Amino acid sequence: MWKKIFGNTKDENSNTYTSLLENIDRTRLPRHVAIIMDGNGRWANGKGMVRSAGHTAGVKALKRTLKAASDFHLEALTVYAFSTENWKRPTAEVDFLMKLFSEYLEKEIAEMDSENVRIDFIGRLDGLSPALQKQIDDARRRTVNNTGVKFNVAVNYGGQDEMVRAVQSLAQDVKAGSLDPENIDSKLLESRLDTKDLPPVDLVIRTSGDIRLSNFLIWQTAYAEFWFTDTNWPDFTKDDLAKALLDFSQRDRRFGGLNKKK
Ligand code: IPE
Ligand code: IPE
Ligand code: MG
Repeated sequence: MWKKIFGNTKDENSNTYTSLLENIDRTRLPRHVAIIMDGNGRWANGKGMVRSAGHTAGVKALKRTLKAASDFHLEALTVYAFSTENWKRPTAEVDFLMKLFSEYLEKEIAEMDSENVRIDFIGRLDGLSPALQKQIDDARRRTVNNTGVKFNVAVNYGGQDEMVRAVQSLAQDVKAGSLDPENIDSKLLESRLDTKDLPPVDLVIRTSGDIRLSNFLIWQTAYAEFWFTDTNWPDFTKDDLAKALLDFSQRDRRFGGLNKKK
């Protein structure tokens, strides 16, 4: 049966996977899903449009996906919106993206708040404009007591940069005399990462057909499951998320141990 379902070609209007998910054993679903929202530019090019149109369409996909994450009762959703390497793009594209983030927050924050979403941000936020930093801070503070999905947006985020900042913070403590290097272990290092308040990443989804991490959550994905799709991010639907979650539910996670006896 699974083969038959997973072998089906994509049907835009289908909610096959969403319906199947309703009957699933919830303990088999991920707590924390992280998404590399890729393929906006290719989506636009394929339609003869400019890349920025792809980013605008990508915001719609993000809204859909956040709603779906709430519907599926995920504990945490982390999305990769802008990497530390994305500054290499033409200034016009970078400026467009920054403006889009700002508009997104301005337009969506009230609804997110009313839907009990707790929004947070990871990455080197002090590298963003003061105005955007203020919006980020306001959004975070406004929703900090919400108890629904923990929605984390990675902006100016790089896994290597995050590790460097974590190591710097430990080194500061060593220098100040409050930390013995021998007491540094993975738990302590983890407590200095941007994701310290989040459950471990269970599932990484990447759209658009590229099969790489691109510096996303390099520490946190040590034992994550991966799910790739050729669908470009602007075309990603609730049902695609359901499909990924169903696939995850069939995986046998061993964490270096042995299979549970079936
Ligand atoms: C992802 O889409 C969005 C960002 C990286 C900001 P891309 O802009 O990378 O689109 P492609 O990969 O060039 O198609
Ligand atoms: C990763 O996508 C970053 C985001 C989705 C924000 P990229 O498009 O920047 O990744 P590469 O350059 O193809 O590896
Ligand atoms: Mg890309």
